[in-house]
Amino acid sequence: MVLIAPSILSADFSRLDAEIEALDKAGADYIHLDVMDGRFVPNFTFGAPLIRQVRSASKLPFDVHLMITEPDKQLGAFAAAGADILTVHFEACPKLEPIINQIHLLGLKAGVSLKPKTPPEVLNGVLDKLDQVLVMTVEPGFGGQTFMQDQLFKIAWLKEHTKGKNIKIEVDGGINPQTAALCRAQGADILVAGTAVFKDKNYRANMDALR
Ligand code: DX5
Ligand code: ZN
Repeated sequence: MVLIAPSILSADFSRLDAEIEALDKAGADYIHLDVMDGRFVPNFTFGAPLIRQVRSASKLPFDVHLMITEPDKQLGAFAAAGADILTVHFEACPKLEPIINQIHLLGLKAGVSLKPKTPPEVLNGVLDKLDQVLVMTVEPGFGGQTFMQDQLFKIAWLKEHTKGKNIKIEVDGGINPQTAALCRAQGADILVAGTAVFKDKNYRANMDALR
């Protein structure tokens, strides 16, 4: 069964604690937190201090998607804030391996995310070190965009190249019940969804529709 990681990017930020509690009660598997710095992506969201403040709202794993430049400088702060999984962008890391090692030394799971134009082959050589790969199916930066079907091949590529390894394939961007089915068919393990979960207050039904 696919896991669902609702993205709080679409939540009501004025009552984030309550939103995270509601997602937990509604059966979320992870809480996906989109960190944007206004440099790596043309949008700004929040950083480690906010994550620390909402950490007590749920015991679910905090899946932190770092859309920031120079992530190596902030990994310690996100670990201290209570992240469980730290995913960096391949495009933001001139050297990937030391960053993966740094995340593991902090005691967290490590993920790498690929923007739509980045081919999966860039992960050759580091795949064995990863706990998770995040396939972006929209250009990172904003919720509510249209799913890019031409990214589905990356899920299949990863499925093939992670056989027998304990690496989760996560997909993020434009996930709704229809596109979720396409991702599941290719072998996705975790689906991130903002708009589709928060479209109304029926969080449980909305997440079940993606499973
Ligand atoms: C986009 C973020 C996503 C976003 C997904 O850069 O990484 O997590 O919240 O939003 P929807 O589900 O609305 O496409
Ligand atoms: Zn995300």
